[in-house]
Amino acid sequence: MPSLCGLLRMLMGKRYIPSVCATMALVLTLMSGQAMLCQSVPLAVTPPMGWNSWNHFGAKVTDADVRATADAMVASGMRDAGYTYVNIDDDWEGERDAQGNIHGNIRFPDMKALADYVHSKGLKLGIYSSPGTKTCEGNAGSYGYEQKDADTFAAWGVDFLKYDLCSYMDEMKLHDPKQDPQLALAMMKEAYAKMHQALVNTHRPIVYSICQYGVGSVWEWGPKVGANLWRTTDDIRDDYRSMALIGFSQAGLETFAGPGHWNDPDMLEVGNGGMTPDQYRTQMSLWAMLAAPLLAGNDLSKMDDVTKSILINREVIAVDQDKLGIQGSRVGPPQIWMKPLSGGAKAVAMFNYVTDDEAEPQTLQFKDVGFDGPVHVRDLWAHKDLGVLEGSYTVTIPQGGVVMLRLWH
Ligand code: GLA
Repeated sequence: MPSLCGLLRMLMGKRYIPSVCATMALVLTLMSGQAMLCQSVPLAVTPPMGWNSWNHFGAKVTDADVRATADAMVASGMRDAGYTYVNIDDDWEGERDAQGNIHGNIRFPDMKALADYVHSKGLKLGIYSSPGTKTCEGNAGSYGYEQKDADTFAAWGVDFLKYDLCSYMDEMKLHDPKQDPQLALAMMKEAYAKMHQALVNTHRPIVYSICQYGVGSVWEWGPKVGANLWRTTDDIRDDYRSMALIGFSQAGLETFAGPGHWNDPDMLEVGNGGMTPDQYRTQMSLWAMLAAPLLAGNDLSKMDDVTKSILINREVIAVDQDKLGIQGSRVGPPQIWMKPLSGGAKAVAMFNYVTDDEAEPQTLQFKDVGFDGPVHVRDLWAHKDLGVLEGSYTVTIPQGGVVMLRLWH
């Protein structure tokens, strides 16, 4: 017998019928007292928040690290501030068995038990694979096993999949030795759409994060292949130059983001040690202005208070998570960014982005961000109301740092 969502899809001839399906699912849940899992429940309505193992643990990540991360996410207050997904990146993969089912490696003996543990903390579990035969680290990818892997992930209780191009480039070359770029792009889109369909077929809501480093202007077609987020750039590193280059280069992509589909400038490096606190505040602020996914990438079990204060700044998180889901844009030189918020407010971030400069004063003209007359101003890092101001606001910004404001009439 088809599920309710399957029935609705058949009747309405559509794969995505969020409001009807979500409402019916809720009604049935209330009636039966059971969770009704349905892929058509709207996913990633605000940018996903959580953690990913890659930036800190890399290839050595273990089941114990993931459990410790879940514990720390709760104990630190991150979960209550909105961080939800605990995502295992590459290097969890072991061998396929005779039936083609993928298993975790020696460091991940029981994925279902791990998912249960993460869920028991009120969190969700994410996993990683590739449309190629091999992941970027040379582990088994999902090529030829898309439905099998999607079913396995769903059976384990996975809630988020990062699908990383990696060796699929080799498949593309094999199929087209002349490497026609149009054909390569078509193959890539097909591969991403195929895994999306496999996830839909599981009837489990699984956020779909695609990672192909932004090639082929992925922001133009990401939603068409079912992506809830797509990486817009190559890998971030834990240094200011890499972070600033990636973050500030997002200007212009704002029209492509919105509820359910987000530009992803890669994960946070906050707390990993390669930048100053001011520079990490810049990353957190810029990512929030960009309505970017906020996926911490540090060792949550060993965070100092400064790191916590950056990752758990609820006023900055509220800018990222604002329900309008509008990605902020650069409004003026050198780096003044503005993000419209619900209720007519606006977030403004002023960055002192040149590292060899000293702290420098910058002036925000309120008319440049759409405010005439008196305006309420609040500093989101100082957690301080600056009062009702008129005309402009001048402030000294630390080197590599930021001043982030909320403005409203
Ligand atoms: C690629 C991705 C990274 C990470 C690694 C893992 O480089 O861009 O984010 O997932 O693969 O191998």
